[in-house]
Amino acid sequence: MFHYKNNKLYCENVPVEKIASAAGTPVYIYSKKQVIGNYLNLNNAFKSISHLICYAMKANSNHAILKTLFSLGAGADITSGGELYRALRAGVPPDKIVFAGVGKTKEEIEYALKTGILMFNVESTEEIELISRISRQIKRKTRIAIRVNPDIDPHTHKHITTSKAENKFGIPYEQAASTAEKIRKDKNLILSGLHCHLGSQIISLSPYIQMAKKLSLLVKQLTARGMRLEYLDIGGGLGIKYHNEKPPTPYELAESILPVLKNLNLKLILENGRYIVGNSGILLTKVIYHKSVKNKKFLIVNSGMTDLIRPAFYDAYHEIVPAELGKSIKTRVDVVGPICESSDYLGRNRLLPWNSTDQLLAVLCAGAYCFSMSSQYNSRPRPPEVMVEGNKWKIIRKRETFKDLEV
Ligand code: LLP
Repeated sequence: MFHYKNNKLYCENVPVEKIASAAGTPVYIYSKKQVIGNYLNLNNAFKSISHLICYAMKANSNHAILKTLFSLGAGADITSGGELYRALRAGVPPDKIVFAGVGKTKEEIEYALKTGILMFNVESTEEIELISRISRQIKRKTRIAIRVNPDIDPHTHKHITTSKAENKFGIPYEQAASTAEKIRKDKNLILSGLHCHLGSQIISLSPYIQMAKKLSLLVKQLTARGMRLEYLDIGGGLGIKYHNEKPPTPYELAESILPVLKNLNLKLILENGRYIVGNSGILLTKVIYHKSVKNKKFLIVNSGMTDLIRPAFYDAYHEIVPAELGKSIKTRVDVVGPICESSDYLGRNRLLPWNSTDQLLAVLCAGAYCFSMSSQYNSRPRPPEVMVEGNKWKIIRKRETFKDLEV
């Protein structure tokens, strides 16, 4: 949905420079059509099995994005009371919400219980005991899925690996069966399924295949002990192409794991975030200075790690392209921001036009974990977010102002 026409970068049918002149820069721009297309792709890939896509809203929790996805039938994967609040405000039915996270507080559990969410993906014995106590107090039985830590290496960045034994997530695979017995004996709880999330930006199928086999074995063991599960939640994690990765498609993912999972007769839950919104957004920023030092040239732009932290945090690669092609000669540059940190960069060693004052640059694949991880560090108000639909666009979150910095 982002393409050039007459040398100008467009989002759907709107030239991005038009948005920049009206809304200013930096600005996040999302394509509604791309979000919908990605969701439908994933949904279609798994159509041969009963399933629910619970969108991992930590990837991008803008109200307009949530409304778009919930109106297509998506549920929500949440990780905090704040996400629950936002999901409900955007109209998701509570019985399509799953709640994971190692640190759910008593207040968050009470809030989710009163709301009537589909299930808690539990991550420790103490959490199970707390949910049981609260359930007894409010005289309600609570559905629980055990988040299993399968000790599988998803071969992604160590900061976004969640399924190795040393990670804080889930209940160790070996303890899952005894935990299931404990839940079964608890009158306040219903063991409704198993959950597993391997990590994020996964670009090979083998970790998924290993996970499917391990989970399938566990489901069979529990069934043999007389337990009747309803759901198998396989998390999210499917990677996207930022640079030269070749991630599997949702169809390839489905083809590789469904043969193992289908005969379990469970309803599948998927919790993708990045795949649905990652390539549907850009961050548009403006060059404000050019600077040459020994052996290096910098393009200093009006956005940085406060708006988009992935390069600084994970050394992540985001393609950067000019909003207008052919304006001036290209040079190797580092694209850096105004924040007082040397890690404040958006791209290193990129071939980009030099000396074109005020040129606009687009940081691509900025729909997931970009705005949602933004901050006000250095007292910088956050940029606005814009949604494009065909030849129309609208601001879906206003630019913050100094008023937002008052406390
Ligand atoms: N389910 C659970 C329990 C999760 O923790 C996550 C992501 C997802 C689903 C969605 O994963 P996805 O399909 O988006 O890969 N900030 C990092 C990514 C952190 C992901 C955290 N959990 C980044 O910018 O790469």
